[in-house]
Amino acid sequence: MKIIDIISATPELLKSPFSGSIMSRAIEKGIVQINIHDLKDFSNNNKKQIDDYQYGGGSGMVLMIEPIDNCISHLKKSNDYSEVIFMTPDAKKLTQKISNKLSISGNLIILCGHYKGIDQRVRDNLVTMELSIGDYVLSGGELPAAVLCDSIIRLIPGVLNDETSALEDSFQDGLIAPPVYTRPSKYKNLKVPEILLSGDPKKVKEWREKKSDEKTKVIKP
Ligand code: ADE
Repeated sequence: MKIIDIISATPELLKSPFSGSIMSRAIEKGIVQINIHDLKDFSNNNKKQIDDYQYGGGSGMVLMIEPIDNCISHLKKSNDYSEVIFMTPDAKKLTQKISNKLSISGNLIILCGHYKGIDQRVRDNLVTMELSIGDYVLSGGELPAAVLCDSIIRLIPGVLNDETSALEDSFQDGLIAPPVYTRPSKYKNLKVPEILLSGDPKKVKEWREKKSDEKTKVIKP
């Protein structure tokens, strides 16, 4: 079983992403265990302080190293981890290739950033990988952590009922997946492409490859 420990200053934001669909199924099947840790529980301070003003001045509070170090050390007492991943917009972007790699790696710690940032000593000394989910700034790393988990978990063998469906995802072979249709074959004046109704698997395959190429050229030239 793969263990994913997520460390967050606002753990309530992480409740719903794991309580439905494929991720909750993977948890129920015992394929993955997701543990959410509240950073405040690892503060040595009786006010449960986890952030403070930044040295040198400047607006915004910065997450302190001590509670993060306490939490990571506590987790490492019980498990080994392949990576300690920090979610932050100023990092290399998550790709399907990275998700593939992480899906077959060992246990993971995911650290969610918050507020103005995090003490740089955490990034320099405790974190082994930094990931962004895109060039935009969210209020914290919780939603990005959920995105990362979703992209990893669905790739673990046994999570999807039809394992081939993950292999045919967009990006798995560098191509965008072709369009798909379902019943009815005609809705108002909108028709499903004839070829998909032809029952000719060779023609259907050719059509899908052509559409996939066309889409890829437009979206990822
Ligand atoms: N935290 C805030 N914005 C983020 C982003 N785009 N990716 C990862 N972590 C983030």
